[in-house]
Amino acid sequence: MSENRNTAVRQQYEDFPYPRRDPAEEATRLLRPPMEYLARINHHGWRGAKVFGPEFRALVAGGGTGDSSIFLAEQLKSFGGTVVHLEQSAASIGVARERAARRGLANVTFVQGMIEAAPELVGGPVDYINCAGVLHHMADPQQGLNALAATLKPDGVAGIMVYARYGRYPTEHMRSLFASLGVPEAPSRAEQTALASSLVQHLPATNPFRHADADGSLTAALLKDEHELHDLLLSPRERSYTVPEFHGLAAGAGLKVAGFTGFFLEGGTNASFYRVESYLADPALLARALSKPLEQQQAIAELLHGNIPLHSAYLSRSGRAGAASLSDRSLVPFFFMAPEGGMLAAWSAAARASRPVQIADSYGNGLTVNAVPPITAVAGLIDGRRSISDIMAAASSVPELMFAPNPAGLALQALEALFASFEQFDWLLLGRGQAFAEPQVAGAMLKIIPG
Ligand SMILES: C[S@@+](CC[C@H](N)C(=O)[O-])C[C@H]1O[C@@H](n2cnc3c(N)ncnc32)[C@H](O)[C@@H]1O
Repeated sequence: MSENRNTAVRQQYEDFPYPRRDPAEEATRLLRPPMEYLARINHHGWRGAKVFGPEFRALVAGGGTGDSSIFLAEQLKSFGGTVVHLEQSAASIGVARERAARRGLANVTFVQGMIEAAPELVGGPVDYINCAGVLHHMADPQQGLNALAATLKPDGVAGIMVYARYGRYPTEHMRSLFASLGVPEAPSRAEQTALASSLVQHLPATNPFRHADADGSLTAALLKDEHELHDLLLSPRERSYTVPEFHGLAAGAGLKVAGFTGFFLEGGTNASFYRVESYLADPALLARALSKPLEQQQAIAELLHGNIPLHSAYLSRSGRAGAASLSDRSLVPFFFMAPEGGMLAAWSAAARASRPVQIADSYGNGLTVNAVPPITAVAGLIDGRRSISDIMAAASSVPELMFAPNPAGLALQALEALFASFEQFDWLLLGRGQAFAEPQVAGAMLKIIPG
Protein backbone atom coordinates (compact mmCIF):
# COMPACT_ATOMS: atom_id res chain seq x y z
CA MET A 1 0.00 0.00 0.00
CA SER A 2 2.66 2.47 1.07
CA GLU A 3 4.81 1.42 -1.94
CA ASN A 4 1.88 2.21 -4.27
CA ARG A 5 1.45 5.57 -2.61
CA ASN A 6 5.18 6.32 -2.91
CA THR A 7 4.91 5.61 -6.63
CA ALA A 8 1.80 7.77 -6.90
CA VAL A 9 3.50 10.71 -5.14
CA ARG A 10 6.53 10.40 -7.44
CA GLN A 11 4.30 10.15 -10.51
CA GLN A 12 2.39 13.28 -9.54
CA TYR A 13 5.61 15.33 -9.51
CA GLU A 14 6.77 13.72 -12.77
CA ASP A 15 3.51 14.80 -14.40
CA PHE A 16 3.25 18.15 -12.63
CA PRO A 17 6.69 19.41 -11.54
CA TYR A 18 6.15 21.81 -8.66
CA PRO A 19 6.01 24.70 -8.57
CA ARG A 20 5.45 25.26 -12.30
CA ARG A 21 8.35 27.41 -13.50
CA ASP A 22 9.50 28.67 -16.87
CA PRO A 23 13.33 28.71 -16.97
CA ALA A 24 13.24 31.66 -19.42
CA GLU A 25 12.00 33.85 -16.54
CA GLU A 26 15.42 33.56 -14.88
CA ALA A 27 16.53 36.32 -17.22
CA THR A 28 14.13 38.78 -15.63
CA ARG A 29 13.78 37.98 -11.93
CA LEU A 30 15.20 36.06 -8.96
CA LEU A 31 12.66 34.41 -6.66
CA ARG A 32 13.62 34.69 -3.00
CA PRO A 33 11.91 32.11 -0.76
CA PRO A 34 11.94 33.85 2.66
CA MET A 35 13.36 30.91 4.62
CA GLU A 36 16.47 30.83 2.44
CA TYR A 37 17.95 34.24 3.19
CA LEU A 38 21.40 33.41 4.56
CA ALA A 39 21.27 36.55 6.71
CA ARG A 40 18.13 35.29 8.41
CA ILE A 41 19.41 31.72 8.89
CA ASN A 42 22.66 33.12 10.28
CA HIS A 43 20.80 35.28 12.81
CA HIS A 44 18.44 32.55 14.02
CA GLY A 45 20.69 29.53 13.74
CA TRP A 46 24.34 30.55 14.03
CA ARG A 47 24.22 33.40 16.56
CA GLY A 48 24.93 35.75 13.66
CA ALA A 49 28.52 34.51 13.57
CA LYS A 50 28.68 32.06 10.65
CA VAL A 51 31.59 32.51 8.29
CA PHE A 52 30.45 31.58 4.79
CA GLY A 53 33.25 30.07 2.71
CA PRO A 54 33.92 27.40 0.11
CA GLU A 55 33.35 24.62 2.65
CA PHE A 56 29.73 25.73 3.21
CA ARG A 57 27.27 23.16 1.86
CA ALA A 58 23.50 23.37 1.61
CA LEU A 59 21.12 20.50 0.87
CA VAL A 60 17.72 21.19 -0.66
CA ALA A 61 15.73 18.02 -0.03
CA GLY A 62 12.71 17.49 -2.26
CA GLY A 63 13.86 20.58 -4.11
CA GLY A 64 11.19 20.38 -6.82
CA THR A 65 11.76 22.82 -9.68
CA GLY A 66 14.45 24.69 -7.79
CA ASP A 67 13.21 27.91 -6.12
CA SER A 68 15.22 27.34 -2.93
CA SER A 69 18.28 25.83 -4.62
CA ILE A 70 18.55 28.74 -7.04
CA PHE A 71 18.24 31.40 -4.35
CA LEU A 72 20.75 29.66 -2.05
CA ALA A 73 23.19 29.12 -4.92
CA GLU A 74 22.92 32.79 -5.96
CA GLN A 75 23.78 33.92 -2.43
CA LEU A 76 26.56 31.35 -1.96
CA LYS A 77 28.36 31.73 -5.27
CA SER A 78 30.48 34.69 -4.16
CA PHE A 79 31.74 32.68 -1.15
CA GLY A 80 32.34 29.51 -3.16
CA GLY A 81 29.61 27.67 -1.21
CA THR A 82 27.67 24.85 -2.86
CA VAL A 83 24.16 23.35 -3.00
CA VAL A 84 22.98 19.76 -3.45
CA HIS A 85 19.51 19.56 -5.01
CA LEU A 86 18.04 16.17 -4.03
CA GLU A 87 14.76 15.27 -5.71
CA GLN A 88 12.96 12.09 -6.71
CA SER A 89 11.31 13.48 -9.86
CA ALA A 90 13.41 13.60 -13.03
CA ALA A 91 11.03 16.11 -14.63
CA SER A 92 11.37 18.49 -11.66
CA ILE A 93 15.16 18.17 -11.70
CA GLY A 94 15.08 18.93 -15.43
CA VAL A 95 13.39 22.29 -14.77
CA ALA A 96 15.70 23.14 -11.83
CA ARG A 97 18.82 22.24 -13.85
CA GLU A 98 17.71 24.40 -16.76
CA ARG A 99 17.03 27.34 -14.42
CA ALA A 100 20.52 27.04 -12.89
CA ALA A 101 22.05 26.82 -16.39
CA ARG A 102 20.22 29.96 -17.52
CA ARG A 103 21.68 31.84 -14.55
CA GLY A 104 25.17 30.41 -15.15
CA LEU A 105 25.19 28.83 -11.67
CA ALA A 106 27.96 26.24 -11.41
CA ASN A 107 27.60 25.57 -7.67
CA VAL A 108 24.52 23.29 -7.70
CA THR A 109 24.76 19.49 -7.94
CA PHE A 110 21.58 17.65 -8.93
CA VAL A 111 20.92 14.23 -7.42
CA GLN A 112 17.89 12.17 -8.36
CA GLY A 113 16.94 10.05 -5.37
CA MET A 114 14.95 9.66 -2.19
CA ILE A 115 15.29 11.68 1.00
CA GLU A 116 15.20 8.42 2.97
CA ALA A 117 18.63 7.64 1.44
CA ALA A 118 20.03 11.18 1.93
CA PRO A 119 23.04 10.15 4.05
CA GLU A 120 24.30 7.89 1.23
CA LEU A 121 23.42 10.31 -1.58
CA VAL A 122 24.59 13.66 -0.30
CA GLY A 123 28.31 12.92 0.09
CA GLY A 124 29.14 14.18 3.57
CA PRO A 125 27.61 16.45 6.16
CA VAL A 126 25.95 19.76 5.28
CA ASP A 127 25.58 23.10 7.07
CA TYR A 128 22.04 23.91 6.04
CA ILE A 129 19.08 21.84 4.86
CA ASN A 130 15.95 23.18 3.24
CA CYS A 131 13.00 20.77 3.14
CA ALA A 132 9.80 22.63 2.35
CA GLY A 133 6.46 21.07 1.51
CA VAL A 134 7.91 17.56 1.36
CA LEU A 135 7.93 15.63 4.66
CA HIS A 136 4.12 15.70 4.93
CA HIS A 137 3.87 13.71 1.66
CA MET A 138 6.18 10.92 2.88
CA ALA A 139 5.09 7.51 4.14
CA ASP A 140 7.08 8.12 7.31
CA PRO A 141 7.92 11.82 7.81
CA GLN A 142 9.87 11.01 10.98
CA GLN A 143 12.10 8.63 9.05
CA GLY A 144 12.54 11.38 6.45
CA LEU A 145 13.55 14.03 8.98
CA ASN A 146 15.82 11.56 10.77
CA ALA A 147 17.61 10.85 7.48
CA LEU A 148 18.07 14.58 6.96
CA ALA A 149 19.30 15.12 10.53
CA ALA A 150 21.87 12.37 9.91
CA THR A 151 23.39 14.51 7.12
CA LEU A 152 23.49 17.68 9.23
CA LYS A 153 26.72 18.96 10.80
CA PRO A 154 26.58 19.21 14.63
CA ASP A 155 25.92 22.97 14.39
CA GLY A 156 23.78 22.64 11.25
CA VAL A 157 20.41 24.33 10.70
CA ALA A 158 17.36 22.98 8.87
CA GLY A 159 14.60 25.13 7.38
CA ILE A 160 11.49 22.93 7.43
CA MET A 161 7.96 23.59 6.21
CA VAL A 162 5.03 21.24 6.76
CA TYR A 163 1.27 21.73 6.57
CA ALA A 164 -0.38 22.93 9.77
CA ARG A 165 -3.48 21.19 11.10
CA TYR A 166 -6.09 23.89 11.66
CA GLY A 167 -5.41 26.13 8.66
CA ARG A 168 -5.27 23.08 6.43
CA TYR A 169 -8.79 22.06 7.35
CA PRO A 170 -10.61 23.49 4.29
CA THR A 171 -8.18 21.69 2.00
CA GLU A 172 -8.52 18.42 3.93
CA HIS A 173 -12.27 18.82 3.70
CA MET A 174 -11.99 19.11 -0.09
CA ARG A 175 -9.75 16.07 -0.24
CA SER A 176 -12.42 14.05 1.60
CA LEU A 177 -15.01 15.33 -0.85
CA PHE A 178 -12.83 14.40 -3.84
CA ALA A 179 -12.17 10.96 -2.35
CA SER A 180 -15.88 10.29 -1.83
CA LEU A 181 -16.51 11.18 -5.48
CA GLY A 182 -13.60 9.04 -6.67
CA VAL A 183 -11.88 12.02 -8.35
CA PRO A 184 -8.30 10.84 -7.62
CA GLU A 185 -9.12 7.44 -9.21
CA ALA A 186 -10.36 8.93 -12.50
CA PRO A 187 -8.46 7.13 -15.26
CA SER A 188 -6.57 10.07 -16.79
CA ARG A 189 -4.96 13.28 -15.56
CA ALA A 190 -7.23 15.22 -17.94
CA GLU A 191 -10.31 13.68 -16.33
CA GLN A 192 -9.05 14.27 -12.78
CA THR A 193 -8.34 17.89 -13.65
CA ALA A 194 -11.72 18.39 -15.32
CA LEU A 195 -13.67 16.90 -12.40
CA ALA A 196 -11.66 18.76 -9.76
CA SER A 197 -11.91 22.07 -11.64
CA SER A 198 -15.65 21.74 -12.04
CA LEU A 199 -16.12 20.92 -8.37
CA VAL A 200 -14.04 23.83 -7.00
CA GLN A 201 -15.94 26.24 -9.25
CA HIS A 202 -19.38 25.10 -8.18
CA LEU A 203 -19.17 24.74 -4.42
CA PRO A 204 -22.09 25.95 -2.31
CA ALA A 205 -21.48 29.11 -0.29
CA THR A 206 -21.49 27.08 2.94
CA ASN A 207 -18.50 24.96 1.92
CA PRO A 208 -15.39 25.66 4.09
CA PHE A 209 -13.09 25.83 1.06
CA ARG A 210 -15.37 28.41 -0.55
CA HIS A 211 -15.41 30.28 2.77
CA ALA A 212 -11.63 30.20 3.09
CA ASP A 213 -11.30 31.54 -0.46
CA ALA A 214 -13.88 34.29 -0.14
CA ASP A 215 -12.34 36.51 -2.83
CA GLY A 216 -11.94 33.55 -5.22
CA SER A 217 -8.24 34.24 -5.82
CA LEU A 218 -7.12 30.74 -4.83
CA THR A 219 -9.78 29.09 -6.97
CA ALA A 220 -8.70 31.25 -9.93
CA ALA A 221 -5.07 30.22 -9.38
CA LEU A 222 -6.05 26.54 -9.24
CA LEU A 223 -8.05 26.78 -12.45
CA LYS A 224 -5.15 28.51 -14.20
CA ASP A 225 -2.40 26.12 -13.12
CA GLU A 226 -2.91 22.35 -13.15
CA HIS A 227 0.30 21.90 -11.15
CA GLU A 228 -1.19 23.96 -8.31
CA LEU A 229 -4.49 22.10 -8.53
CA HIS A 230 -2.87 18.69 -8.22
CA ASP A 231 -0.37 19.79 -5.57
CA LEU A 232 -3.04 21.34 -3.35
CA LEU A 233 -6.02 19.07 -3.78
CA LEU A 234 -5.05 15.82 -5.46
CA SER A 235 -1.75 14.74 -3.94
CA PRO A 236 -1.94 11.01 -3.17
CA ARG A 237 -0.83 11.41 0.43
CA GLU A 238 -0.47 14.20 2.95
CA ARG A 239 -0.76 14.90 6.63
CA SER A 240 -0.65 18.01 8.76
CA TYR A 241 0.81 18.99 12.12
CA THR A 242 -0.29 20.85 15.23
CA VAL A 243 2.40 22.82 17.05
CA PRO A 244 2.98 20.04 19.64
CA GLU A 245 3.18 17.46 16.83
CA PHE A 246 5.67 19.66 14.98
CA HIS A 247 7.86 19.95 18.10
CA GLY A 248 7.56 16.17 18.45
CA LEU A 249 8.70 15.62 14.86
CA ALA A 250 11.74 17.84 15.46
CA ALA A 251 12.56 16.17 18.79
CA GLY A 252 12.29 12.72 17.21
CA ALA A 253 15.23 13.70 14.99
CA GLY A 254 17.23 15.19 17.89
CA LEU A 255 16.39 18.75 16.81
CA LYS A 256 14.66 21.74 18.43
CA VAL A 257 12.74 24.66 17.01
CA ALA A 258 15.14 27.61 16.84
CA GLY A 259 12.38 29.88 15.58
CA PHE A 260 9.28 29.96 13.42
CA THR A 261 9.72 31.93 10.23
CA GLY A 262 7.92 32.90 7.01
CA PHE A 263 7.22 30.98 3.85
CA PHE A 264 5.40 33.00 1.22
CA LEU A 265 7.39 34.91 -1.35
CA GLU A 266 7.22 38.25 0.41
CA GLY A 267 10.14 38.19 2.77
CA GLY A 268 8.43 38.46 6.14
CA THR A 269 8.09 36.18 9.14
CA ASN A 270 5.11 34.46 10.78
CA ALA A 271 6.88 34.30 14.15
CA SER A 272 4.26 36.57 15.73
CA PHE A 273 1.55 33.98 14.95
CA TYR A 274 3.17 31.78 17.60
CA ARG A 275 3.19 34.37 20.41
CA VAL A 276 0.27 34.52 22.80
CA GLU A 277 1.04 38.25 23.24
CA SER A 278 -0.17 38.74 19.65
CA TYR A 279 -3.71 37.81 20.66
CA LEU A 280 -4.38 38.14 24.38
CA ALA A 281 -5.22 41.63 25.61
CA ASP A 282 -6.89 40.48 28.86
CA PRO A 283 -4.09 40.57 31.49
CA ALA A 284 -5.54 37.59 33.41
CA LEU A 285 -5.62 35.39 30.30
CA LEU A 286 -2.20 36.59 29.17
CA ALA A 287 -0.69 35.84 32.58
CA ARG A 288 -2.17 32.32 32.45
CA ALA A 289 -0.74 31.73 28.99
CA LEU A 290 2.68 33.16 29.85
CA SER A 291 2.92 30.89 32.90
CA LYS A 292 3.16 27.87 30.55
CA PRO A 293 6.37 26.56 28.97
CA LEU A 294 7.14 28.16 25.59
CA GLU A 295 6.04 25.16 23.51
CA GLN A 296 2.63 25.20 25.22
CA GLN A 297 2.36 28.95 24.66
CA GLN A 298 2.96 28.36 20.96
CA ALA A 299 0.29 25.65 20.93
CA ILE A 300 -2.17 28.06 22.57
CA ALA A 301 -1.22 30.75 20.03
CA GLU A 302 -1.93 28.29 17.20
CA LEU A 303 -5.39 27.58 18.68
CA LEU A 304 -6.05 31.30 19.11
CA HIS A 305 -5.06 32.07 15.53
CA GLY A 306 -7.04 29.06 14.39
CA ASN A 307 -6.03 29.30 10.77
CA ILE A 308 -2.24 28.93 10.44
CA PRO A 309 -1.92 27.05 7.14
CA LEU A 310 1.65 25.81 7.48
CA HIS A 311 4.53 25.72 9.92
CA SER A 312 7.87 26.94 8.65
CA ALA A 313 10.71 26.94 11.14
CA TYR A 314 14.43 26.69 11.60
CA LEU A 315 15.49 23.58 13.50
CA SER A 316 18.86 22.96 15.08
CA ARG A 317 20.38 20.98 17.92
CA SER A 318 20.74 24.09 20.06
CA GLY A 319 17.27 25.49 19.33
CA ARG A 320 16.59 29.03 20.47
CA ALA A 321 20.02 29.24 22.09
CA GLY A 322 21.37 29.53 18.54
CA ALA A 323 19.83 32.98 18.01
CA ALA A 324 22.05 36.06 17.80
CA SER A 325 21.97 38.53 20.69
CA LEU A 326 23.39 41.95 21.49
CA SER A 327 25.74 40.39 24.05
CA ASP A 328 28.18 39.67 21.20
CA ARG A 329 29.34 43.22 20.59
CA SER A 330 31.30 42.26 17.48
CA LEU A 331 28.05 41.60 15.59
CA VAL A 332 26.72 44.09 13.06
CA PRO A 333 23.07 45.18 13.37
CA PHE A 334 21.31 45.73 10.05
CA PHE A 335 17.77 46.39 8.90
CA PHE A 336 16.83 43.17 7.12
CA MET A 337 13.61 44.75 5.90
CA ALA A 338 13.17 48.42 5.18
CA PRO A 339 10.51 50.62 3.66
CA GLU A 340 10.99 52.83 0.60
CA GLY A 341 13.66 55.37 1.50
CA GLY A 342 15.20 53.18 4.22
CA MET A 343 14.19 52.53 7.82
CA LEU A 344 15.28 55.99 8.99
CA ALA A 345 12.45 57.40 6.90
CA ALA A 346 10.05 56.12 9.59
CA TRP A 347 11.65 58.25 12.35
CA SER A 348 11.90 61.21 9.98
CA ALA A 349 8.19 60.89 9.21
CA ALA A 350 7.39 60.76 12.93
CA ALA A 351 9.57 63.82 13.60
CA ARG A 352 7.99 65.77 10.72
CA ALA A 353 4.48 64.93 11.89
CA SER A 354 5.36 65.48 15.59
CA ARG A 355 3.50 62.29 16.36
CA PRO A 356 4.04 58.56 16.10
CA VAL A 357 3.82 56.70 12.78
CA GLN A 358 3.07 53.02 12.13
CA ILE A 359 5.36 50.65 10.29
CA ALA A 360 3.68 47.51 8.93
CA ASP A 361 4.87 44.63 6.78
CA SER A 362 2.92 42.50 4.33
CA TYR A 363 2.58 39.72 6.93
CA GLY A 364 0.45 41.94 9.16
CA ASN A 365 3.25 42.69 11.64
CA GLY A 366 3.17 46.28 12.81
CA LEU A 367 4.79 48.73 15.23
CA THR A 368 4.41 52.31 16.37
CA VAL A 369 7.52 54.45 16.00
CA ASN A 370 8.15 57.63 18.00
CA ALA A 371 10.83 60.18 17.22
CA VAL A 372 12.74 59.57 20.50
CA PRO A 373 16.14 61.25 19.98
CA PRO A 374 18.53 58.51 21.28
CA ILE A 375 16.64 55.81 19.33
CA THR A 376 16.54 57.91 16.16
CA ALA A 377 20.27 58.58 16.56
CA VAL A 378 21.11 54.91 17.02
CA ALA A 379 18.88 53.94 14.09
CA GLY A 380 20.92 56.41 12.03
CA LEU A 381 24.15 54.66 13.06
CA ILE A 382 22.89 51.26 11.87
CA ASP A 383 24.40 51.02 8.42
CA GLY A 384 25.05 47.28 8.05
CA ARG A 385 28.78 47.88 8.59
CA ARG A 386 29.19 49.25 12.11
CA SER A 387 29.33 46.61 14.84
CA ILE A 388 27.54 47.06 18.17
CA SER A 389 30.91 48.21 19.65
CA ASP A 390 31.37 50.67 16.77
CA ILE A 391 27.92 52.12 17.38
CA MET A 392 28.67 52.53 21.10
CA ALA A 393 32.01 54.18 20.30
CA ALA A 394 30.41 56.51 17.73
CA ALA A 395 27.88 57.74 20.33
CA SER A 396 30.34 60.31 21.74
CA SER A 397 30.31 62.22 18.45
CA VAL A 398 26.54 62.16 17.82
CA PRO A 399 24.67 65.28 19.07
CA GLU A 400 21.67 63.35 20.48
CA LEU A 401 23.92 61.06 22.54
CA MET A 402 27.21 62.91 23.23
CA PHE A 403 25.95 65.03 26.15
CA ALA A 404 24.70 62.06 28.16
CA PRO A 405 26.86 61.08 31.16
CA ASN A 406 27.58 57.78 29.40
CA PRO A 407 27.01 58.09 25.63
CA ALA A 408 28.04 54.50 24.90
CA GLY A 409 25.71 53.16 27.59
CA LEU A 410 22.82 55.28 26.28
CA ALA A 411 23.51 54.05 22.73
CA LEU A 412 23.40 50.45 23.95
CA GLN A 413 20.15 51.08 25.84
CA ALA A 414 18.58 52.60 22.73
CA LEU A 415 19.82 49.70 20.62
CA GLU A 416 18.34 47.23 23.12
CA ALA A 417 14.96 48.97 22.90
CA LEU A 418 15.10 48.94 19.12
CA PHE A 419 16.20 45.31 18.99
CA ALA A 420 13.44 44.21 21.40
CA SER A 421 10.73 45.55 19.11
CA PHE A 422 12.21 45.14 15.63
CA GLU A 423 13.87 41.74 15.92
CA GLN A 424 10.58 39.97 16.64
CA PHE A 425 9.55 40.66 13.01
CA ASP A 426 13.04 40.11 11.54
CA TRP A 427 13.14 43.79 10.63
CA LEU A 428 16.44 44.15 12.51
CA LEU A 429 18.94 41.28 12.57
CA LEU A 430 22.56 40.71 13.56
CA GLY A 431 25.37 39.34 11.46
CA ARG A 432 29.01 39.78 10.63
CA GLY A 433 30.85 41.02 7.58
CA GLN A 434 29.94 42.79 4.37
CA ALA A 435 27.75 39.93 3.23
CA PHE A 436 24.69 41.23 5.03
CA ALA A 437 24.73 44.91 4.16
CA GLU A 438 21.25 46.33 4.67
CA PRO A 439 18.48 45.97 3.60
CA GLN A 440 17.75 42.57 2.14
CA VAL A 441 14.03 42.92 1.72
CA ALA A 442 13.34 46.43 0.53
CA GLY A 443 10.50 48.59 -0.65
CA ALA A 444 6.86 47.68 -0.77
CA MET A 445 6.99 44.84 1.79
CA LEU A 446 7.30 47.37 4.60
CA LYS A 447 5.17 50.50 4.68
CA ILE A 448 5.17 53.65 6.77
CA ILE A 449 1.62 54.62 7.68
CA PRO A 450 1.21 58.19 8.92
CA GLY A 451 -0.41 58.31 12.40
C1 LIG B 1 5.38 20.35 -3.03
S1 LIG B 1 6.87 20.00 -3.83
C2 LIG B 1 7.92 21.20 -3.04
C3 LIG B 1 9.10 21.60 -3.87
C4 LIG B 1 10.06 22.57 -3.21
N1 LIG B 1 10.56 22.07 -1.95
C5 LIG B 1 9.43 23.92 -3.04
O1 LIG B 1 9.16 24.30 -1.88
O2 LIG B 1 9.24 24.63 -4.02
C6 LIG B 1 7.39 18.47 -3.08
C7 LIG B 1 8.61 17.87 -3.75
O3 LIG B 1 9.17 16.87 -2.91
C8 LIG B 1 9.54 15.76 -3.71
N2 LIG B 1 9.53 14.57 -2.82
C9 LIG B 1 8.47 14.09 -2.13
N3 LIG B 1 8.84 13.00 -1.42
C10 LIG B 1 10.17 12.81 -1.68
C11 LIG B 1 11.11 11.85 -1.24
N4 LIG B 1 10.77 10.89 -0.38
N5 LIG B 1 12.39 11.95 -1.72
C12 LIG B 1 12.73 12.93 -2.59
N6 LIG B 1 11.87 13.85 -3.05
C13 LIG B 1 10.60 13.80 -2.59
C14 LIG B 1 8.49 15.74 -4.79
O4 LIG B 1 8.90 15.00 -5.92
C15 LIG B 1 8.29 17.22 -5.06
O5 LIG B 1 9.13 17.71 -6.07
